Amino acid sequence: MDAAIYVSRHAPIDRIDPNVYGHLTEHLGRCIYGGVWVGEDDRVPTEDGIRMDTVELLRNLDAPVLRWPGGCFADDYHWKDGIGPREERPRQRNMWWAQGRENRPEESNAFGTESFMRLCDLLDAEPYLAVNVGSGDPEEGVDWAEYCNYDGDTEMTRLRAENGSEEPHDVTYWGVGNENWGCGGRYSPQLYAEEFRRFANYLKGFDRVMSDGSMELVACGHVTDDWNRQFLEHLEKCVSFGQGSVYDLLDHLSVHRYYYAGGDTDFSTEQYYRMLARAARIGEDVDRAAEALEMFAPGSNAGIIVDEWGVWHPEAVFANGLEQENTVRDALAAASVLDDLNERADVVAMANIAQTVNVLQCLVQTDEEDAWPTPTYQVFDLYKAHMGGTALRTTVEADVHTVESRSDEFGPQDTHDVPLVSASASETDERVRITLSNRALDAVSSTTVAMDVADATVVDSEVLFAGKETDDYSTKDNAESFEPSTIAVENHGDGTFAFDVPASSVVGLTVER
Ligand code: AHR
Repeated sequence: MDAAIYVSRHAPIDRIDPNVYGHLTEHLGRCIYGGVWVGEDDRVPTEDGIRMDTVELLRNLDAPVLRWPGGCFADDYHWKDGIGPREERPRQRNMWWAQGRENRPEESNAFGTESFMRLCDLLDAEPYLAVNVGSGDPEEGVDWAEYCNYDGDTEMTRLRAENGSEEPHDVTYWGVGNENWGCGGRYSPQLYAEEFRRFANYLKGFDRVMSDGSMELVACGHVTDDWNRQFLEHLEKCVSFGQGSVYDLLDHLSVHRYYYAGGDTDFSTEQYYRMLARAARIGEDVDRAAEALEMFAPGSNAGIIVDEWGVWHPEAVFANGLEQENTVRDALAAASVLDDLNERADVVAMANIAQTVNVLQCLVQTDEEDAWPTPTYQVFDLYKAHMGGTALRTTVEADVHTVESRSDEFGPQDTHDVPLVSASASETDERVRITLSNRALDAVSSTTVAMDVADATVVDSEVLFAGKETDDYSTKDNAESFEPSTIAVENHGDGTFAFDVPASSVVGLTVER
């Protein structure tokens, strides 16, 4: 199979916000408890109860932003339960992640706001908090903002000092609820618009007067166009009866996208390609949400945040805390999602793969003694050079695999073409990073990359998953075998390069002039 990729240094798209490479950490299964927080357990090195083997792995990825405490958990979370002496914190239900009476996880509240901020400090990552809209009220939300961000002398700032933080945490990103069309309150778009307006009015009011005006509010959107448009239309109505515009209150609109086809390690050829086709829907979700924003505020700076995305296999169920094997196939899907997000650098403000540790398409897995990276982690490692770079227009000519559309999963057409090669590129300080994957199951791709600069030379080339099967997954004993190896590249000296990409593998190239 032949593939041709064109990368245009003369067609910059926009800066890739580093936050596009962000993560979700929810109080769900072994993500926070076990994966991040082990408290007094001394089987692994810790700082303030946070396990450092997980931290070291995430540090290596330059993890830019962490979303917390959920997920669905966020709309049943009352942040004041998670501060103060641990032995006095209330022990509670974790109702979203229970499976019937035989499996009812409980929340100890051992990990609260201060622990989360400590985790962010250890990673040098931005915190992104999800405020409880479904079962909370604006006062609770604004108290949290005051606790985190105010630098004066109030009950909230004294509380923060008592909990160990004299200085504010300066949290920029605030989600106003989570999936409020579902677990976050089952609102209609109109009712959520009214709730959003109420919460945002007080959060923004606090920020404008008591802080530095840098809080950014994220409204909960949906992958269906209808929700986004109805929400924005109603929000506009609500706001225009008062003063100002929708965009005095809203900075970003979020969408979530999960996908699967077949099982985690057991899937057919057809299911392999169907899952890649479903992963590509993230690009369409972003485009549709951006169109809705553009319709209601042409020219605004509001961005799209994909604050949950990833593979959710049928094996990940409530009873096992949404754990699944994470294979090379999942990592290939992640590579193409990241290509699609890079390509939309002009509208995507952030993305958070679900979920950082142990849960769903995690990057890190742990047991009581060790932490190790998944194949998806390796993709993030290969792609991290894109963070903060300028995305460059990249086009791919490659064969496609055609999957049949089921009901209208890919829109009105009967079939959907999955390009067998996916790619994206960015430039940072005169160095161009090109990432690409050959998604063909059984064919090497003879690939040519052409750039619109004659003196470009590949100075570094790596490949992931050469020699692996698509259903291979990492364990603590074999994780190293998923690390990249070098790949031979022919530099033609005229801005073109040629190389063979093994079947179902991912390549990262660094190009200099
Ligand atoms: O990531 C698991 C769950 O998926 C989140 O809690 C929820 O927001 C989504 O439905």
